[in-house]
Amino acid sequence: MIVLKLGGSVITEKDRAETLDGDALERAADGIAAALEDGREDLVIVHGGGSFGHHNASEHGVSTTAGTRDANAVLDIHGAMQTLNRFVLSRLLERDVEAVPVHPFSAAHRDAEGRLELPIAQIETMLAEGFVPVLHGDVIAHAGAGATVISGDELVATLARALEADRVGLCSTVPGVLDADDAVIDRIDEFAAVTDVLGASDATDVTGGMAGKVQTLLDLEAEASIFGLESLDAFLEGAEPGTTID
Ligand code: IPE
Repeated sequence: MIVLKLGGSVITEKDRAETLDGDALERAADGIAAALEDGREDLVIVHGGGSFGHHNASEHGVSTTAGTRDANAVLDIHGAMQTLNRFVLSRLLERDVEAVPVHPFSAAHRDAEGRLELPIAQIETMLAEGFVPVLHGDVIAHAGAGATVISGDELVATLARALEADRVGLCSTVPGVLDADDAVIDRIDEFAAVTDVLGASDATDVTGGMAGKVQTLLDLEAEASIFGLESLDAFLEGAEPGTTID
């Protein structure tokens, strides 16, 4: 099975609040629909926030570590992500992909150590029944901190482990991990090989930085790829576009 993340900056206009990149989302939905049509493979989709969610979170001073106990703040952030999730679902449904929402706020939490607890039986049942679960970065209850942000990348890592994914794809705004000359690095199998171009990995860097993404993906059993939207079809067809991390 495949866990695929659609980066928030891919499917939205990052610089304009709550604005979709309609063309990009349609293109992604076309690729997903085509892949599911020929040869059904289990697929779980996670999308990020882009111009949805992030600004609400920063307005309320909420991050992956700084929480809030203000229900209005929670609803603001969660509401923006739900709106984006609706758009993603509707583009998939239009193409006969049996996409269904899983809202992390209602399904998951962080424990007192900040670890994500995401019950998986619900998602496994959806897959077994032929649905395509679509999760998203969100705000979730966090023991001792109120509610904090959960990034799509963290969800991808947890899902890949729990579902024993064969492949993980991060569809990003860049064609892969770039070296010092901006060429795509084909393969990364140890972090030490890329510290020069990425800098040291910071464990708290969970919502964006490439170093954090690479470190998280290196820790997974599954083979992972970081690629641009132009390579989504190739990835779903089984190729290894962009940067492969294993
Ligand atoms: C954003 O999710 C979640 C919120 C801010 C509520 P991500 O952090 O995964 O989003 P992108 O892909 O980086 O935009």
